[in-house]
Amino acid sequence: MKSIYFTTPLYYVNDKPHLGTAYSTTMIDVFNRYYKLLGYETLFLTGVDEHGQKLQESAQKAGLSPQDFCNGMAENFKTAWSELGISYDIFFRTTDDFHKQAVQKALQTIYDQGDIYANDYEGWYCVSEEIYYTEKELVDGKTPTGREVVRIKEKNYFFKMSKYIDRLREHIAKNPNFIRPESRKNEVLGFLNKEVHDLCISRPKSRLQWGIEIPFDRDYVTYVWFDALLNYGTAVGLLQEKRTEEFKKWWPQAHHSIGKDILTTHAVYWTTMLMALDVDLPKMIFAHGWILNQDNEKMSKSKGAVVDPVEFAKSVGLEGLRYFFCRDIHFGNDGSISQELIQNRLNADLANNLGNLLNRTTNLYEKFYGGKVERQWHDDPATLEIITQLEALPEQVNKEVLDFNLSGAIECVVRALNSVNRYLEDRAPWKQAKTDLLAASKSLYLAIEALRMTGILFSPIMPTKCRELLNRIGVTGDIKFADAGTFGLLNSVSVSKGEPLFPRFEDKFGDKKDKT
Ligand code: MSP
Repeated sequence: MKSIYFTTPLYYVNDKPHLGTAYSTTMIDVFNRYYKLLGYETLFLTGVDEHGQKLQESAQKAGLSPQDFCNGMAENFKTAWSELGISYDIFFRTTDDFHKQAVQKALQTIYDQGDIYANDYEGWYCVSEEIYYTEKELVDGKTPTGREVVRIKEKNYFFKMSKYIDRLREHIAKNPNFIRPESRKNEVLGFLNKEVHDLCISRPKSRLQWGIEIPFDRDYVTYVWFDALLNYGTAVGLLQEKRTEEFKKWWPQAHHSIGKDILTTHAVYWTTMLMALDVDLPKMIFAHGWILNQDNEKMSKSKGAVVDPVEFAKSVGLEGLRYFFCRDIHFGNDGSISQELIQNRLNADLANNLGNLLNRTTNLYEKFYGGKVERQWHDDPATLEIITQLEALPEQVNKEVLDFNLSGAIECVVRALNSVNRYLEDRAPWKQAKTDLLAASKSLYLAIEALRMTGILFSPIMPTKCRELLNRIGVTGDIKFADAGTFGLLNSVSVSKGEPLFPRFEDKFGDKKDKT
């Protein structure tokens, strides 16, 4: 059985989940469900990043110990992900003991082989990003994204990152899909073509106590990124003797999905750390874009423009929001989001197209056939052409999903639904039924089969809605991807109409009555 191991970033636990982090997590939830449907064994990791200066400062402000503060905040993420229908396998916390031990083992190994050395550090540090910067890297005295920095001068430990840069360049050249999309790969290559410094991987305890103690110098704790990045490996057994089989199984299938803002830490820090540990690199690092607010700015806490994802999902409908994420924000690019954009999209694709087809079809089956579906269809060229279009969908969807292009996958299905709606307009079974029940039933069969196939193909995006859709047209039991590729499977089933599954947003934006 093929397998895949998906990871999201570990979110800083001192922020609350917001629409941006919800996007990051939801997209992996959708991919993970698709891969499962495609027959893969999957593992889905998400979690929180709990150490570092930023956390220590937040805990101090809240008057709590860092651990108590983290425990409370980690729950916010678990609750939000559960309310957003995220079905992860591992919720990782960097304060777990097994992780701390593995991080210390990693440090000791790299130190023992001579790839960590002590030196005086003088430079700039951004607490908000937890990143070190050189003078040259600053833009107008701030980080390239405009964050404040502080001057630091102290003895620290350094990882010989520069030693591995040529090997990394080679790896990127030999593995064209290692960093995606292409534009991000070029960004990394650009970074590598400049002078790459060694990485400062410690902080003196005199300034920061909240971290994993450096095993070879107890006056220091580990730099938070060095600790957090290791999670992807330690979660599946890296540097843990009793878990080697598990590590062998999952690690070669690792796919990291991250926001484009943390590309360097993953594509350069993490990869060279793995090289130093003599561990293979992950299969892929995919950097997605940002969710932008109405002023086309990244939604983030520091911009003061965060949106509570659970409240937002309530206002537009959870599965509608998932559909919009997949359909309108091309994975890899930035995308704007607003209630207006979402409602327009859901009205067009789900209410008018898919929902209308479902209402009409189930209505007519109830009205003229007592809800009974007979397996019969027309065999004229126009009908056969649409059947061919429908039967080609799983292959197209499969290809787009493997290419991480969900907008493309959805596009194929929507085009087929358009064809079926046009077909119904043309055949008008509501009129046909009055004079020729057999002909009308044959016309309707094309529609009900298209609905069945769509219910399967969209199920990873809208699991609850699609389950309900399939139930209404008499498909119970496990959803099988292969069934979406064969026309004519529905036979003598009963359909039920029910309340509109994809109602229209009739009113102005923000109306809470009609939600998808
Ligand atoms: N803790 C580090 C990551 C360590 S990974 C070992 C971190 N955390 S974070 O809380 O700042 O989250 C960063 C990630 O959240 C981004 O890379 C991205 O995946 C997601 N997003 C945060 N804001 C976002 C948007 N506005 N839009 C899309 N994704 C966003 O960095």
